[in-house]
Amino acid sequence: MSGATLTAPSWDEFWNSQNRVLLAPMEGVVDAVMRDMITKIGGVDLCVTEFIRVTDRLLPLSDFKKYAPELFSSSKTPAGTPVLIQFLGGQPGPMAENAAFAASLGAPGIDLNFGCPAKTVNRHDGGAALLRDPSRIFDVVSAVRAAVPTTIPVSAKVRLGFENKDRHLEIAKAAEAGGAKWLTVHARTRDEGYRPPAHWEYIARMREAVSIPVIANGEVWTLEDYKRCREVSGCRHVMIGRGLMSAPDLAKQIQTGAAQTPWSEVLVWLIDFGLKSREYRHDHYAVCRVKQWLKSLAKTYLGVAELFERLKTQESLDPMLAILRESSTHAVTEIADGSHQPAAALAL
Ligand SMILES: Cc1cc2nc3c(=O)[nH]c(=O)nc-3n(C[C@H](O)[C@H](O)[C@H](O)COP(=O)(O)O)c2cc1C
Repeated sequence: MSGATLTAPSWDEFWNSQNRVLLAPMEGVVDAVMRDMITKIGGVDLCVTEFIRVTDRLLPLSDFKKYAPELFSSSKTPAGTPVLIQFLGGQPGPMAENAAFAASLGAPGIDLNFGCPAKTVNRHDGGAALLRDPSRIFDVVSAVRAAVPTTIPVSAKVRLGFENKDRHLEIAKAAEAGGAKWLTVHARTRDEGYRPPAHWEYIARMREAVSIPVIANGEVWTLEDYKRCREVSGCRHVMIGRGLMSAPDLAKQIQTGAAQTPWSEVLVWLIDFGLKSREYRHDHYAVCRVKQWLKSLAKTYLGVAELFERLKTQESLDPMLAILRESSTHAVTEIADGSHQPAAALAL
């Protein structure tokens, strides 16, 4: 997808022409710098911003700049991957108003979050709270659909239900009836939080109940998971969140058959990420972000957990990056197919 401009008809082409991999929106994790890193590494066709919370009014321009800086650089990451704007909220009017404003700023598409499980969000009537009553999903999607130009797709991201899965088909149909151009399904209920397993078989039923593209999401950590997810859900397209934080080249592996990237290269990405995060916000922000990413990487790269222990008390970026640079002499190796292999010394 890199570099291409998406016009309305090309969204159909986008979904029909290839199996797509999407980077999942993750509040506090996938910011513009992370989207830049992951899309540069390769294999990701589409990104979605962290959710922008809408209550009862039009948000200030500063919120759009904060969550979606790509809006001001043709709505693409530097690698050329389109970035959709995600909103979360339960009131159709304000959701529509904010979506129309995002479209006027150049958003290539609007994604609506009906999956956030956070108690604070649900108490204030947003995210997964709407799964309790699918007619409310219809109301929000159709209001947003009516407010943005027909050339701008509106999509919905849902879970299987709130406390149970009884209404999963109604949820999918409500999104489609409201005018969603596609549907992403995180294969768990709200009450299941992020606990494995993901119930991909329910996505298959939802996919059969609608005629829009359905994107499968949840618990894809490895190439093997990706294959099984597609097999069980029957979906061509998959969205990956935490798996791309722990294996940043997973989409590239999927799309190009590339072997897992050696730690020496990942380390270069991590250092670059730290520097870019500091430039984007400030030193403390960068420190927290590097620690957060390193922790995720420890799921894939053996030896990284010890590295994390060595730098977790660091409070500024430069000494932390010095430890990372020096760590190339320490034993860190890849975990192939989820199984630990003997550690080997690294050569940078
Ligand atoms: C820390 C965190 C933040 C998240 N933030 C968002 C968000 O802003 N919008 C959204 O639609 N989903 C959000 N999600 C859900 C993910 O997009 C995704 O549906 C979920 O993590 C399952 O996919 P995975 O197993 O590939 O990570 C978040 C998940 C996590 C773990």
